[in-house]
Amino acid sequence: MYARLAAVAAASLGAVAALLSGPAAQAGPAARPGPSAQAGPAARTGLAARAGEAPARSERPLVIAHRGASGGAPENTLAAVDLADRMGFDWVENDVQRTRDGELVVVHDETLARTTDVEERFPGRAPWRVGDFTAAEIATLDAGGWFGPRWAGERVPTLRRYLHRVERNGQRLLLEIKRPELHPGIERDTLRVLGEEGWLDRSHVARRLVVQSFGADSVRAVHRLRPDVITGFLGMPPVAELPSYAAFTDRINPAHTALTSAYVAEVHRLDGARGERLQVYTWTVNDAAGARRADGFGVDGIITDHPDVVRDAVG
Ligand code: G3P
Ligand code: CA
Repeated sequence: MYARLAAVAAASLGAVAALLSGPAAQAGPAARPGPSAQAGPAARTGLAARAGEAPARSERPLVIAHRGASGGAPENTLAAVDLADRMGFDWVENDVQRTRDGELVVVHDETLARTTDVEERFPGRAPWRVGDFTAAEIATLDAGGWFGPRWAGERVPTLRRYLHRVERNGQRLLLEIKRPELHPGIERDTLRVLGEEGWLDRSHVARRLVVQSFGADSVRAVHRLRPDVITGFLGMPPVAELPSYAAFTDRINPAHTALTSAYVAEVHRLDGARGERLQVYTWTVNDAAGARRADGFGVDGIITDHPDVVRDAVG
């Protein structure tokens, strides 16, 4: 119920083809400094480690605000994007799903129940699945009050609005395609919106965008449609299978709890789909000890609800 506030707080084919065309004709102006601004010389060179060489690694990991700075503002809202910006963090992570009428929206759960007032607003619509509501209906929901009274009135953003805000703030986006099996074709829809909003030009693709998913087929689809886009697979495939993942992805992003330095080193021995060293972003690391542990493993990125805590821990 909505009242559990404090407890929870903790296509047109032609047009699509044009949007999904390669980056050469879509080059845009250089934006903010690239990931190299947060990475060391090894990462800046983009050189992959070869067999027999010590894997190159970043001097320090990227710190990525999970669902925005979701430790201090309601997850996946514009407020969480803005809070990450005020805290000084470029990278935000989000979750993208599709409404009944085909709009892409930023929300994590399969249903709207936990993070909005949908149960009160639409009592007869259980189980309140994202894909059962129109974008207009979702736009009326309060996506902030559950987190705290001061956040009441925050909305579930459309992906377009979300991209506008990230762009306005000069930030970068780790975009997760959430539950792709529930939203067939969402990869093409996502790329279409990214293209229409200017996020597939050369500078965004090179420096400001990573698209990830728990669905290997989804990541494969994104890579097939736009091989220049940096992709990430959420999970921890067996080491023996890493080469097959490296054929379609550029990041292996495991939960931090099962991660080891040996696994990170194995990932770093490979080149990813775009010919640069395969990297590791780990999640969701919310305390200093966990951040130091992940940093010690040599990860390239740490995804966290509390980016300030991770920054203080890893320097
Ligand atoms: O970005 C990694 C992380 O977001 C994956 O888990 O459930 O928070 O989407 P989840
Ligand atoms: Ca996510």
